[in-house]
Amino acid sequence: MSLANIRDAAATVPNDLESFWIGFTPNRAFKKAPRLIVRAKDMYYYRPDGRAVLDGTAGLWCTNAGHNRDPIVQAIQRQAAELDYAPAFQFSHPKAFELASRLAALAPADLDHVFFCNSGSEAVDTALKIALAYHNVRGQGARTRLIGRERGYHGVGFGGTAVGGIVTNRKYFGALLAGVDHLPHTYNREKQAFSRGEPEWGGHLADELERLVALHDASTIAAVIVEPMAGSTGVLPPPKGYLQRLRAICDKHALLLIFDEVITGFGRLGHAFAAERYGVTPDMITFAKGVTSGAVPMGGVIVRNDIYRTFMQGPEHVAELFHGYTYSAHPLACAAALAAIELYRQEGLFQRARTLEPMWMDAAMGLKGLPNVLDIRTSGITAAIDLAPKPDAVGRRGYDAMEKAFHEHGVMVRNMGDTLAVTPPLIVSESQVAEIFDKLARVIRAVA
Ligand SMILES: Cc1ncc(COP(=O)(O)O)c(C=O)c1O
Repeated sequence: MSLANIRDAAATVPNDLESFWIGFTPNRAFKKAPRLIVRAKDMYYYRPDGRAVLDGTAGLWCTNAGHNRDPIVQAIQRQAAELDYAPAFQFSHPKAFELASRLAALAPADLDHVFFCNSGSEAVDTALKIALAYHNVRGQGARTRLIGRERGYHGVGFGGTAVGGIVTNRKYFGALLAGVDHLPHTYNREKQAFSRGEPEWGGHLADELERLVALHDASTIAAVIVEPMAGSTGVLPPPKGYLQRLRAICDKHALLLIFDEVITGFGRLGHAFAAERYGVTPDMITFAKGVTSGAVPMGGVIVRNDIYRTFMQGPEHVAELFHGYTYSAHPLACAAALAAIELYRQEGLFQRARTLEPMWMDAAMGLKGLPNVLDIRTSGITAAIDLAPKPDAVGRRGYDAMEKAFHEHGVMVRNMGDTLAVTPPLIVSESQVAEIFDKLARVIRAVA
């Protein structure tokens, strides 16, 4: 980094950290030792003083193509100069249609219509609303119940929070949605610890859906939503056969199956969507994050042809779905997404994730045996390391590890309580993989 750049970067350090209330972050601790980033390129973030930080998290599981990639940057710049905004209702712009077609081509089977929004949370709430409305328009309006899963994360809207299964995300926010039930989560350390990829044990847990159907009756259930691999609660790959069984039970009772692929989409698990990795076709896929490689907010829902067709009835001058966002298919987001998807294709990044996976898994499993390491899980280019909590302060060890990694070792990892997650951009080199896990080993020893 040139001197001039360092000076520019230093000038951007705020002199008042107080006003910004940061989400999902301990604000007081952060403001005492801020982790500020002012610039990024490819695999690296840069701090205000110019020090590089190796990005072990692809931002928040989103910059799958790496940071500030020229084709994406240029596409956004060109788009900003050409068309800043077009109304999202009653009018549109060509790139929205082009992007929808590209996404339909990437999605499995007949998932071929795309509804756009701006985040994963909006994508989830949109999918849940489409599920309810779908049953309504086909004359089964009693199907209102939604089924999520314990340890699921589906964003922070009321719908996503309700079907989600994270206690702290739910307990402060009242009654949430009525008529929601949850499948049990699929993690069992005793049976699954240190599984390489998808665990052998746990496929039978899908049969719990039959129990919920027996309890509520299928005629009251609209949809089941799961992350194919639960990301935010610590990388929980689906047990072998689990998703196939869920699909079969949903088919038997005409329940819609929604895969929340906000994290697993766009190469994270070595395919455009995890649905492809697991050979299971859901009725809807929610996406966000990697669709623009994190460069501009965007999310959406890809639905099966039959779902879209079901809505296409009634007078032609009346909207078929009373839902949408001012910034649905925003021109900048569409331009960024088209450029990101093209970059993924040209550089073969989904395939690259598949090729890298065995080496990645070995490197992650290399941490086994270090102090306090209770389990390591991987799937695609994701890894999670469970550390034993300190008896008097759950989450402290994980937080300290994340801080040390950033401040002392120049590597970004994420902590979810005492679990560390590593999910770098898919351009990560083999030597950078080794560097990430070497540094993590040192950090884990340091917080022992
Ligand atoms: C599976 C899943 N769904 C939804 C979301 C929410 O996405 P956003 O933060 O863009 O609203 C996330 C975010 O991490 C996620 O992992």
